Amino acid sequence: MKVVVTGGCGFIGTNFIRYFIKKHPGYKILNIDKLTYAGNLENLKDFKKRKNYHFVKADICNALFMKKLFKKFKPDAVINFAAETHVDRSITAPSQFMKTNFLGVGTLLNLCLDFGIKGFLQVSTDEVYGSIEKGSFCENSLLTPSSPYAASKAGADGLVMAYHTTYKLPILITRTTNNYGPYQFPEKLIPLVILNALKNKKIPVYGNGMNVRDWIYVEDNCAAIDQVLHKGKIGEIYNIAGKCEKTNIQVIKTLLQILNVDESLITYVKDRPGHDQRYSLSMSKIKKQLGWQPKTSFARGIKKTIDWYQNNKTWLHNTQTGAYRKFYKQYYSKLGLKEK
Ligand code: NAD
Ligand code: TYD
Repeated sequence: MKVVVTGGCGFIGTNFIRYFIKKHPGYKILNIDKLTYAGNLENLKDFKKRKNYHFVKADICNALFMKKLFKKFKPDAVINFAAETHVDRSITAPSQFMKTNFLGVGTLLNLCLDFGIKGFLQVSTDEVYGSIEKGSFCENSLLTPSSPYAASKAGADGLVMAYHTTYKLPILITRTTNNYGPYQFPEKLIPLVILNALKNKKIPVYGNGMNVRDWIYVEDNCAAIDQVLHKGKIGEIYNIAGKCEKTNIQVIKTLLQILNVDESLITYVKDRPGHDQRYSLSMSKIKKQLGWQPKTSFARGIKKTIDWYQNNKTWLHNTQTGAYRKFYKQYYSKLGLKEK
């Protein structure tokens, strides 16, 4: 099988490609990534010489160039991780979120139709449902997104479903809770706390720190996406949950305790506008239909995550200085195509 993975140089995309290549060594993968501040080619530098892995730097919104790539690679399936993903950035500068997360998905859907793709999997988020006080959202719950990020992802989900209903495009959607693990850019809560703790810097807690997120170890999400791609029912949405709900302050204190860093670094700051109080997903559909459930406990996942950041201080440092950007200059696309 030939698979296009978009956004493969970001946090989940990197972990997914690592998981996917190991699980399916016979598959061919084309990783298409714009290399925004969140995309780091260094993450997969050990794959550079693999015959079944290609990377091309490109924007999913660039329909003409994307068409050239599809024509050359002839994919059977497309998995879309490419997105602008940080809620705080979506509040200060929402336009790029609308462009990549909605219009970019539209470009991919048109290409999938034109090239007769057998499966398009859109990687979506629990944030499309909005906040829930009690209980958990099911796949058919109403979407009430709060942030521009969540709204752009909800819009994309609507578009993906519409291409299935109208054109019978074979689509799948996964909606996942908060991921954590190696290679996450340190603007998201868990890597930010680790980075600041290691540097003895203040740890900003929005509002009262009582907002609840459901945490899933990234490799568990990768396994779920792989299962949905191979065994999911076309046209269906699958929630992927960690079943590990914690308040932000609980997460922060756990991290500080493991790192042996004093809690005095904790600093309460102004709340995020429109801050969702609680995310929670029911995962009974994926459990019943595909037999998937998360394997990694929070204690084990957090230990693995902290170990990874402690062993990869240069990676962490490079995200601060932008040094990882230089890496692309040494890269040659094996497909022989470059975006203008
Ligand atoms: P990330 O920000 O770490 O990575 C995003 C990647 O997309 C980067 O490599 C970036 O360069 C690339 N990209 C951005 N704009 C692009 C464009 N126009 N064309 C091509 N590539 C582009 O994000 P992530 O955390 O790995 O998230 C991946 C996907 O999973 C996203 O769609 C996100 O909405 C979804 N998701 C993430 C989480 C989470 O907790 N991180 C939870 C649920 C869903
Ligand atoms: P984040 O990692 O940005 O993920 P999301 O907003 O997509 O859930 O934030 C997770 C939670 O942590 C969220 O409730 C906001 C909060 N938070 C802080 O309190 N301080 C921070 O510095 C960050 C980045 C997030």
